[in-house]
Amino acid sequence: MDIPALRTALLGWFSAQGRELPWRLTAPNGRRDPYRVWVAEVLLQQTQVVRGRVYFERFLMAFPTVQALAEAPQEAVLKAWEGCGYYARARNLHRAAQLMAVQGMPTSYDGWLDLPGVGPYTAAAVASLAYGERRAVLDGNVRRVLGRLYAVLQPTDLWAQGVADALLDPAKPGDWNEAVMDLGATVCIPKAPRCGGCPLASRCAALASGEPGRYPAPKVRAAVREIRGVALLIGTPERLYLEQRGGTLLGGLWGLPLEEVQGGDEHAALKRLQCRLAVSGAELVGTVAHTMTHRQLGVSLYQAEGRLPLTPAAQRPLSRLDHKLLALAAGRVTQPALF
Ligand code: ADE
Repeated sequence: MDIPALRTALLGWFSAQGRELPWRLTAPNGRRDPYRVWVAEVLLQQTQVVRGRVYFERFLMAFPTVQALAEAPQEAVLKAWEGCGYYARARNLHRAAQLMAVQGMPTSYDGWLDLPGVGPYTAAAVASLAYGERRAVLDGNVRRVLGRLYAVLQPTDLWAQGVADALLDPAKPGDWNEAVMDLGATVCIPKAPRCGGCPLASRCAALASGEPGRYPAPKVRAAVREIRGVALLIGTPERLYLEQRGGTLLGGLWGLPLEEVQGGDEHAALKRLQCRLAVSGAELVGTVAHTMTHRQLGVSLYQAEGRLPLTPAAQRPLSRLDHKLLALAAGRVTQPALF
């Protein structure tokens, strides 16, 4: 493989066809704002770029600087993150910003890696894009591009990181990283790769095999767990009784009171909920289906009367599941019951 020629081909494509994204703004010295890069990369880890763009603008509007983020109450950070899922990421962004407000912002891969919530991917992205450090990123797009280039059916992380490191353009590590990611997102896409528009087509072993879409083989996914729950609406969808959630998944967010259904007994779960909140009588509103990583939720929503403090829903950070429940109660969506 002629690596310098490969780099030239991909970087040429990137400067002509690379996407214009809000976090790609550069300062006059050609470097990026590390704060913007960091926020964008954390957001994009589980979010498609189209949606990530909207969330990015919203978050940056709320917290334009690391200082602003550090000084915000956690609830405001979760509110700005609303809908993005993986709320531990928002809590970690906040903690990391508070550390940076005291210690200053790290300027190297190793320094970033020490911050909460920052793993090798984010550290490599920030170090290369904002500081020009020679660090290759490895995400799902990069893994697929490299797996195809070398026609490897099951690229391990170790293999893919080794190849990513070897191909990284030492003169333009940030551009190189984004070029590979953009190629994976727009051309070397999972199901039907658009090899006709690929700058690396003549070098691609998967394309030469005649079946580029076979590479790499899909990763075996962890089983999805089905969970049923019962939620209670006390008040109206706009002004209601809310509880603050615990746990790592939705911790810090607010939501409708919820009980998990044990052993298939929805009635018992509803009873527990009614007891806990001292409410009687509950009418079924409908059922909402919601998928989270490795979890498929089916939640039955009941409406009840109770003497409990009511809060405007718009004032609190809510998960997407809770927004769906409120939309159901407001008659804005009708979802077929899944369970
Ligand atoms: N996916 C995640 N981060 C990205 C970036 N900086 N450019 C393109 N795609 C990405």
